[in-house]
Amino acid sequence: MAKIIAGVTTSHVPAIAAAIDLKKQEMPYWQPIFKGYEFSKKWMAEQKPDVIILIYNDHASAFDATIFPTFAIGCADEFLPADEGWGRRPVPKLKGHSDMACHIAQKLILDEFDMTVVNRMDVDHGLTVPMNLLFGDLGPDEEWPCRVIPFPINVVQYPPPTGKRCYDMGKALRRAVESYPEDLKVIVFGTGGMSHQLQGTRAGLINKEWDTRFLDGLTKDPVGLTKIPHSEYVRETGSEGIEMVMWLAMRGALNDDVKEVYRFYHVPCSNTALGHIILENK
Ligand code: DHB
Ligand code: FE
Repeated sequence: MAKIIAGVTTSHVPAIAAAIDLKKQEMPYWQPIFKGYEFSKKWMAEQKPDVIILIYNDHASAFDATIFPTFAIGCADEFLPADEGWGRRPVPKLKGHSDMACHIAQKLILDEFDMTVVNRMDVDHGLTVPMNLLFGDLGPDEEWPCRVIPFPINVVQYPPPTGKRCYDMGKALRRAVESYPEDLKVIVFGTGGMSHQLQGTRAGLINKEWDTRFLDGLTKDPVGLTKIPHSEYVRETGSEGIEMVMWLAMRGALNDDVKEVYRFYHVPCSNTALGHIILENK
């Protein structure tokens, strides 16, 4: 039986990708940010997961205004890094897990979560930046050490799903994973967040107090966080703060009781707050 051993959330700021690709990690601006992931990379190397289910949002790279699925799952065996305007990033292509992804799609749909099955898709910074932060700076000729099932949630095209819907979907995702017969170690990621407003007069808005409450709640009271309406995310953390509903999808896939093994919060990263937490199933 496949088993979810832990959950990871992290911001996926695209400037981190640029810092890696242009080798600026040691610059004073970037050094503390990459230092904040030293523990995480060691932790990940010890976990040796077989599969990562990576919940993220596409930023109009694979999808655009033509179509934006609410919950989607990548069922292909391979996914290339998207061209976000500067060519494809020099990172390894992802090896998917088609058989497990198809199994999860079927289970979720029969469990009344109407997934969009995606058989071809490029993956953008929402996915590649967290892979770098947890696995390091691998080049295009190298391989990520595990399979990855991309799981995009729409938070770009109004209306995005509620935090509660994402949390409930995470619970169903866990049931789906645990019904997969092979003994595989699975880690679930939820990326995006924290405080961030990228445009308009409130650009650069940071609400550290609210972010801290969200991080605390993610570990200890996720059900409390599912009551946060969209309007509160947007008002308190900026228009893109809504990305945090994806963290609740990850959290739903874990035990009620989890061990917080690591937390990192840093401002600024681009014009946002960066947050990262690692939760182990007890
Ligand atoms: C930025 C973009 C993102 O998608 C994000 O999650 C955080 C920051 C940016 O453009 O700075
Ligand atoms: Fe984003």
